[in-house]
Amino acid sequence: MQYQIKYASPLTIRTDCLIVGIYASKKLSSAAEKINIACKTAITQCLKNGDITGKTGETLLLQELKDQDNKALPSKRILLVGMGEQKKPTIANIKKIHESAAKALSKLNINNAVSYLADIDHKALPEQLQEDTLLSSAIVASDQAFYQYSEFKSDKHTVKCNKIHFAFENKGSASLQKKRKTGQTQGSAIAIGIHKTKDLGNAPGNVCTPTYLAKEAKQLQKTYKNIKVSVLEEKDMAKLGMHSLLSVSKGSKEPAKLIIMQYMQGKKGKKPAVLVGKGITFDTGGISLKPGAQMDEMKYDMCGAASVIGTMNAVAEMQLPVNLVCIIASAENMPGSQASRPGDIVTSMSGQTIEILNTDAEGRLVLCDALTYAEKFNPAAVIDIATLTGACIIALGRVPSAVFSNKQALADKLIASGDAIHDRLWQLPIWDDYQTQLDSNFADMANIGGRDAGSITAACFLSRFTKKYPWAHLDIAGTAWVSGKAKGATGRPVPLLTQYLIDNHC
Ligand code: BES
Ligand code: MN
Ligand code: ZN
Repeated sequence: MQYQIKYASPLTIRTDCLIVGIYASKKLSSAAEKINIACKTAITQCLKNGDITGKTGETLLLQELKDQDNKALPSKRILLVGMGEQKKPTIANIKKIHESAAKALSKLNINNAVSYLADIDHKALPEQLQEDTLLSSAIVASDQAFYQYSEFKSDKHTVKCNKIHFAFENKGSASLQKKRKTGQTQGSAIAIGIHKTKDLGNAPGNVCTPTYLAKEAKQLQKTYKNIKVSVLEEKDMAKLGMHSLLSVSKGSKEPAKLIIMQYMQGKKGKKPAVLVGKGITFDTGGISLKPGAQMDEMKYDMCGAASVIGTMNAVAEMQLPVNLVCIIASAENMPGSQASRPGDIVTSMSGQTIEILNTDAEGRLVLCDALTYAEKFNPAAVIDIATLTGACIIALGRVPSAVFSNKQALADKLIASGDAIHDRLWQLPIWDDYQTQLDSNFADMANIGGRDAGSITAACFLSRFTKKYPWAHLDIAGTAWVSGKAKGATGRPVPLLTQYLIDNHC
């Protein structure tokens, strides 16, 4: 899908579908008002008849409106969309409006549409929501409604509409126009990154293996010449002493991969931001086997890795002037005859020894070695992204991702960028008080910390490998995919990570 900006009057636009907003007070947006006056109050009639009230996300399609002289408008269809309260546009509202509009569009037999839904009076916008994030989140939300994963369906339904213009009646100041353009560029790139992340997440475990992820990374290097990819094989990792990571792939016939992607388009010599993704392409639990119900969802256990690849894709697409290193720790967690046993002890790349009391706590075992490896890039900050603990869903549900950090300023920045693009985080503590839960009788630490505070003890485990740089850990177990009827990857936290890089590393 292409998203572009247009400055024009709604009366002159020729499109398959013109989209205009109605507020909850039954007040028409300026574009809707123009159509209404030109077309014998057709929209006021709809409001009077109660077919639309202006509630956030409501839609109503009108066909072939005629003007006073009974001449058809140049646009074949008008889609009315409820905008909610006019006084307080929030980013959550904005996203809902655009997603509903796009959902309605996706069902129509049209090629293109022009939307005035982002044409909101600048003065009405709150300080935290400016035209750039307004437009980028409008694009991200629209694209969300158009996404389908039909790779393995014989009947591949595709959305016919392929271009949406966001239209504005007035150009406004040069800075306003620039902000919109920035939002359009960033939103379009983030949408592409989300798409990639969802495709990788939704791919089944028999297709999306560590080897497949490595191929995908190399494919990205082909598309964007600025990305350099290298892959460490198991023998390379063994030389580096990554026996914690390697212990996870031992039970599988799929070899582990450590995938490194570098995009150094920022100032020369500027320390890079490093993203580390958990890439367990299927998590059976290993010898500590998971129960069968919903085990299929463990194909999503590589969504941290997928979000890192998606973020790299977005960054390269928008040619962001940033130094970015992405590391993906990828393995399949299977209960084969060579698999780790509960009680096994391994030595990590850091030299610290780990007693594997539960082979299902494998995410931290692959991440800890990748986090030690990250030291070599002299990072400004390291952020790992992982579907790490079921306990995170119990603690926070599926609304925010959890953030943990050894540096409050870093957590604050991540939280602020997440709020700005509405891909939110909630911070949990990693106080020393929790560390004793990881005590082991036989090694430097155990890989589990008991029932209490499972997400926190997982983060505390990682914190033992990240002492040399500012570090944050994002637990995305509750946010990376949705279960149930609409099962599928969400593409989170690509918006947050991209926005964070834009806000802090350029
Ligand atoms: N990949 C899972 C975490 C997970 C579970 C994410 C369910 C989303 C939904 C992770 O590897 C895992 O199995 N964690 C264990 C840790 C436990 C053994 C300490 C968990 O959460 O049960
Ligand atoms: Mn597990
Ligand atoms: Zn896992």
